[in-house]
Amino acid sequence: MISFLKFTILLVLVTLVSRSLADEYVLNNKRFPSSFMFGVATSAYQIEGAWNEDGKTMSTWDNLTHVRPELIMDGRNADIACDSYHKYEEDVALMKEVGVNHYRLSLSWSRILPTGFPDQINEPGVNYYKNLFRALKANGIQPLVTIYHLELPLALQELNGVLNESFVDWYSDFAAVCFDLFGDDVKLWTTFNEPKQVCSGGYGYGYFFPYIKSEGLLEYQCTHNLLRAHAKAYRIYDEKFRARQGGKVAIVLDAYSYLPASESAADITAAETRMQFDLGWFANPIFNGDYPEIMKSRIATRSKGEGRAESRLPEFTEAEKIALNGSADFFGLNVYTAGLVAAIDDPPISNPPSKYQDMGVNDYQPSDWETTSLDWLKVTPWSMRHLLNWINDHYHQPDILITENGVCDNTGTLQDVQRVSYIQRYLSNIRDTMELDGINVIGYTVWSIIDNFEWAQGYTQKFGLHHVDFDSPNRTRTPKLSAQYYKNVCHTKCLLDDDSACID
Ligand SMILES: *[C@@H]1O[C@H](CO)[C@@H](O)[C@H](O)[C@H]1NC(C)=O
Ligand SMILES: *[C@@H]1O[C@H](CO)[C@@H](O)[C@H](O)[C@H]1NC(C)=O
Ligand SMILES: *[C@@H]1O[C@H](CO)[C@@H](O)[C@H](O)[C@H]1NC(C)=O
Ligand SMILES: *[C@@H]1O[C@H](CO)[C@@H](O)[C@H](O)[C@H]1NC(C)=O
Repeated sequence: MISFLKFTILLVLVTLVSRSLADEYVLNNKRFPSSFMFGVATSAYQIEGAWNEDGKTMSTWDNLTHVRPELIMDGRNADIACDSYHKYEEDVALMKEVGVNHYRLSLSWSRILPTGFPDQINEPGVNYYKNLFRALKANGIQPLVTIYHLELPLALQELNGVLNESFVDWYSDFAAVCFDLFGDDVKLWTTFNEPKQVCSGGYGYGYFFPYIKSEGLLEYQCTHNLLRAHAKAYRIYDEKFRARQGGKVAIVLDAYSYLPASESAADITAAETRMQFDLGWFANPIFNGDYPEIMKSRIATRSKGEGRAESRLPEFTEAEKIALNGSADFFGLNVYTAGLVAAIDDPPISNPPSKYQDMGVNDYQPSDWETTSLDWLKVTPWSMRHLLNWINDHYHQPDILITENGVCDNTGTLQDVQRVSYIQRYLSNIRDTMELDGINVIGYTVWSIIDNFEWAQGYTQKFGLHHVDFDSPNRTRTPKLSAQYYKNVCHTKCLLDDDSACID
């Protein structure tokens, strides 16, 4: 309730900014604190290539892109991708040139454990990462490592992947291997990248590997397993590694900033419900020990109405709640866009269930929002203040590390003015939130340092600060305007081009 007034004030501000002042928004001219981390991100499958080299086995995405190329926009795969397995030193040199503090990357499970299990550790795969960490260290760049970024050894998918109860053990065994092998070099870990994409994308709406549609059923079971796996890995770090290695472990959650479509109480409640089903689904167990009440109650009621003996939303045991509660040392946030939410009449019960019915709200993006080359990715920098406050208020004022933010185009132009403007305006709104609301944002990470394989979009969507020539065997990297702009931000900690206009 304390936050309600603040929320309402913010809402009015955000509404004003978004509706009438968008063009008049004044960029923040305060320097970021000297401790603020500026970084860039990638993930293993999207850049490494070398899909079958040096003892690496097939991952789920190797299989998918080889046998179902029709599911990929341009029919291409990431067998070579950016060839970063061979060109990692070049990538590190690009990062050094930009002047980043950290590099967010992920580990390929099937490169490190070819069977999926720790019975066999693949030395050359391990050495690839060790060499990469060495190169980063030599250039003063801190690694931020994601243990699982949307791909699994095929051998484990053949055992039902994330839906298998044993996944919790497979995953935490792998995490323990990673902590053990790399924990001297890596002090910032995240367990999973975007579990919502794995579960809602993969097992709910079915727009992502393995393309199974089971809204409100398998997607909840998938999430339940990933959350338990996360907690187990976090507690293993606590028990076996933290004292010696002194690192931090968190998870990367992707969120839309969902704003009420109007100032009516009904729409404000609807937006809160939407946030809980989007971000709270994962964040509430991790920061507060259980699924959000609104999810538990709505899904239980509707499950009963469908004639089920149990809620479709699984329950954590008391021991699991304890293990989950407080299992993140910072809040890893991937954020790209926003949506508006309006209240609707409660949808009737029907079988099979749907996520829309479980939520019982309507969300949408107005047609006049700034567009990009991806439909869903509307440019909404003004929504950052709302989202960061929401996280702050719901999860005990965590340190928030923005682990991804960025924008795509389908031209690959070096004159990427929209990307410059996007990064500048998002960072400015983040800086506003730090300054005006005292929210603890500790860092920001651009997705991505280089154009790469964008999953089902293949190479058609380009997010890089550097262009990659995917038709050249060299995979030549060329800086875009945005690399130049971000370089200036990393060096000055200020968003303006004219440093004399920046204020300490
Ligand atoms: C690999 O792809 C084939 C063809 O789509 C599919 O039948 C098989 O189930 C896939 N394997 C896994 C483990 O996903
Ligand atoms: C789940 O994994 C176990 C091994 O831990 C395996 O024996 C079992 O067959 C798997 N279940 C399915 C449905 O594949
Ligand atoms: C999580 O921990 C907090 C603080 O220690 C406690 O107040 C809360 O009840 C716990 N949540 C659950 C579900 O146990
Ligand atoms: C690839 O790189 C090598 C070494 O940097 C260079 O000699 C060669 O000309 C390049 N080839 C192409 C096609 O760019």
